Amino acid sequence: MNDPNGMVYYEGEYHLFYQYYPDSTVWGPMHWGHAISTDLTHWEHLPIALYPDSLGLIFSGSAVIDWNNTTNFGSKDKPAMVAIYNYHDMEGEQTGKHDFQTQGVAYSTDKGRTWTKYEGNPVIPNTNNIHDFRDPKVFWHKDSEKWVMILATNDKVKIYTSDNLLTWEFASDFGFGHGSQARPWECPDLFELTTAEGESKWVMIVSIGNRLEEEQAPNGGSGTMYFIGDFDGKSFTNSNPKEKTLWIDYGRDNYAGVTYSDIPENDDRRLFIGWMSNWNYAQVVPTEVWRSAMTVSRVLTLHKKEDGYLVYSNPIKEFEQLRTTTTTIEETMVESRLDLSKKGIPSQSQWTLEFTPTDATDFGIELSNTKREVYKIGYDAVTNEFYSDRMKSGKTDFSKLFAAKIHTAPRNSTAKTVKFNVIFDLASAELFADDGATSLTDIFFPTEDFNSIVIYTNRKLMVSGKAYNLSSIYE
Ligand code: FRU
Repeated sequence: MNDPNGMVYYEGEYHLFYQYYPDSTVWGPMHWGHAISTDLTHWEHLPIALYPDSLGLIFSGSAVIDWNNTTNFGSKDKPAMVAIYNYHDMEGEQTGKHDFQTQGVAYSTDKGRTWTKYEGNPVIPNTNNIHDFRDPKVFWHKDSEKWVMILATNDKVKIYTSDNLLTWEFASDFGFGHGSQARPWECPDLFELTTAEGESKWVMIVSIGNRLEEEQAPNGGSGTMYFIGDFDGKSFTNSNPKEKTLWIDYGRDNYAGVTYSDIPENDDRRLFIGWMSNWNYAQVVPTEVWRSAMTVSRVLTLHKKEDGYLVYSNPIKEFEQLRTTTTTIEETMVESRLDLSKKGIPSQSQWTLEFTPTDATDFGIELSNTKREVYKIGYDAVTNEFYSDRMKSGKTDFSKLFAAKIHTAPRNSTAKTVKFNVIFDLASAELFADDGATSLTDIFFPTEDFNSIVIYTNRKLMVSGKAYNLSSIYE
């Protein structure tokens, strides 16, 4: 699988559709796979939702609940769930045409279980022959009382509006020359967030799908940036200088992430899921019966800092139900290594740690196994950066782009105490540092589970916190 798609909440269920090719572990003719959850933590697989048809493969897109029955697909009492997705006509592409990507619509009136494609598809044909013309994300814009679509088109996004999800009018372009100049732009999103002080701004997410070897996202390959600005229902204005590029996650394995639609107003969280891989090596990672996972569901929040706004990421509170045993680390002065291996904490665990350096400048958590495979996630006070080192973490030689260097992320806090909230799975680490001000997601492939866990430091450091054993989401 790759991108999360059609993330929508309806009648107690969170739907997660995703890019899926059922016949192989490598990318191929795309379908929409489907899973549902009542808590965004435990997931149940459902049958494939959307199959390719004569208009093409089913690439990324979104889903909404049509509460006012603007489509006439359902009724006001029983609104339809409507998916708006990208059609990719493979034959068209192979014959050298440029209009092979178009936008289509499908709907379900049985809570996403069965789907009917709209007979008038495509709802947005590719009349201007735009080679990359995809990944529609749709939302209801209250002030203008219209549906708004944001679409990725290689070096910018296009915004469209509609009364009924079926007839779309072009509204504006945004982005040429803004942010990362990497191409192609993919999987956009646009939503409003309000700071704790009550100030609201619009956040635009854009993923950049580098398939080349050059450095593009902060640590190479594909990655997801965001812009902060204002939106009037038709066009977006960037509040930052054009060249400023903000990143949702600095690790290499959080791509194509977008947010949920139709979260009830009394919840009001902006919930995000990303695909935990990178197009640099997604097709060759050393897994057999599965390939790729999604990030933990995250809450995005807006924060005003001295030099502008930042979007923070944090794991959802529902994730805490996976915690079983808790190990408390009372305030301890560590001078070199605090070995926690004998405490019965498995590598599938969550750590909330506070590090207060006396004179330490390099510290973090080290996972290792008897094969001498090591993964380290830490902080370097000299560069003021977090880092993730998977260079000796096990299988790495499947791609020369996988473990070529240590990955770094800037620190966005000046507090003396450095806070780590990190979730380890058998093959991934998700760091939310300083209450979510910096996030870093990386995958790894040890040949034996990591069974030794050590807090390390180069000099004196005060450590305290908790480690939580995590149960499986499938149990
Ligand atoms: C991003 C992406 C999307 C596209 C999909 C195809 O990873 O390239 O732009 O719709 O994957 O699977």
